Amino acid sequence: MPRAARAALAARLSVPMSAVLLAFGLTGCGPAPDEPLRRWQVDTADLARGRTLMTHYQCGSCHAVPGVPGGAERAPELARFGRRSYIAGQLPNTPETLQRWLLDPPGMVPGTTMPRLGLSERDARDIAGYLLSLQ
Ligand code: HEC
Repeated sequence: MPRAARAALAARLSVPMSAVLLAFGLTGCGPAPDEPLRRWQVDTADLARGRTLMTHYQCGSCHAVPGVPGGAERAPELARFGRRSYIAGQLPNTPETLQRWLLDPPGMVPGTTMPRLGLSERDARDIAGYLLSLQ
């Protein structure tokens, strides 16, 4: 097969294949590929309240978070957090685990330097919802 034809064939094959792999990588085995990342969302969360609370609790004094004032670099940036697989490099990034992490970081990851901020369960749910909506 001539080189140009082979390249064209490879391009035709690799584009859909990588789209499939990407869809699988992002959604795991759960939702259909046309519903990307739904499973990461906290269904009942009030995202606007979550964002306001992040200003109130001054998450931006350590983290850079889209839509939240501050933007310090003392802690990992939280842009596109909904696409992350792990929290603090080791906990699976699910809505439940993220809420538990926000309520008590040192209780979840002993030795972590992220402090306990005194969030209520509702606060943690709404903040988790906002973080997971960051794609
Ligand atoms: C005093 C600084 C500080 C404040 C304030 C703070 N954090 Fe953190 N946060 C950290 C540090 C440091 C880490 C990294 C922890 C680790 O990897 O052990 C972290 C990690 C995280 C992570 C996991 C990040 C990742 O890349 O895995 C999330 C999510 C998070 N913080 C959310 C918040 C939210 C939401 C607030 C506000 C309610 C907040 N943080 C306030 C210091 C802070």
